[in-house]
Amino acid sequence: MSRVAYVNGQYLLHSEAGVHIDDRGYQFADGIYEVIALIRGQFLDEKGHLDRLERSLRELRIEMPMERRVLSHVLRETVRRNRIRSGIVYVQITRGVARRDHPFPAGVKPSIVVTARRIKGPSKAALDQGVGVITVKDIRWERRDIKSISLLPNILAKQEARENSAYEAWLVGNGGVVHEGSSTNAWIITMDGVLVTHPADHSVLNGITRLGVLAAADKLGIKIEERSFSVEEAHAAKEAFLTSTTSHLLSVVAIDGKPVGNGHPGELAIKLRQAYFSHLGLEDGSFL
Ligand code: PDD
Repeated sequence: MSRVAYVNGQYLLHSEAGVHIDDRGYQFADGIYEVIALIRGQFLDEKGHLDRLERSLRELRIEMPMERRVLSHVLRETVRRNRIRSGIVYVQITRGVARRDHPFPAGVKPSIVVTARRIKGPSKAALDQGVGVITVKDIRWERRDIKSISLLPNILAKQEARENSAYEAWLVGNGGVVHEGSSTNAWIITMDGVLVTHPADHSVLNGITRLGVLAAADKLGIKIEERSFSVEEAHAAKEAFLTSTTSHLLSVVAIDGKPVGNGHPGELAIKLRQAYFSHLGLEDGSFL
């Protein structure tokens, strides 16, 4: 079956769909995106993702291309036309098409693209054994809270991770503080059992999975500290893990080749993963 993409009001064959070469997304990365997981027909926290999408647009003064309830319908229709029960939906909105010039163009409508595809999710090996991360310098701009399509530093970091056989790169700021991963949020559990993740300020993207895991941890009565932590503190932690829409919650068992805790997925991370799915009303997170 052929894939279908929604582009500015039309459902097109994915293989033939395209945007104008003067689209400001293509010219300037002047746009934002969201990735929403779909598991057995259910969107995971659609409201959270659409709230963040609207916030990203507001921060960049790009208009919503359509009402929210219409966008919600387009997401469902794209999923339906691609016959997907489990996978991800990708939404990208840019400032629109205009002659290339830096200032905002006048009277231009934003462009929107919605695509959907099946994904496998984390491998059984990653779930059972955990994953390794490397640390790299965070060279991004100062508004990482906006889910901008400008992802060059993230791409370079992820590539470096791949070239070092690591799953993710943790981006480290001034003073050796771990901000987040190139496409995931970063967490540790201290030797005292305190759950620590960077506060949702301008240094990190406030992950929707992050918010779900915080809510699940709260329900479990786990002590939470939203504060920065250093690479050294992560090395000395009992457990570490990462979260995102596509990885859900994955244990981090090595940082720069050094084991975290006993080098195996920790008990609390496993418990939290399950609590996170229960919080969403799901039995488990497999994309089957
Ligand atoms: N990435 N931090 C960054 C820099 C991210 O790009 C992402 C998401 C996250 C986690 O956010 P969430 O839990 O809402 O997925 C944190 C998406 C999945 C992506 O780029 O494909």
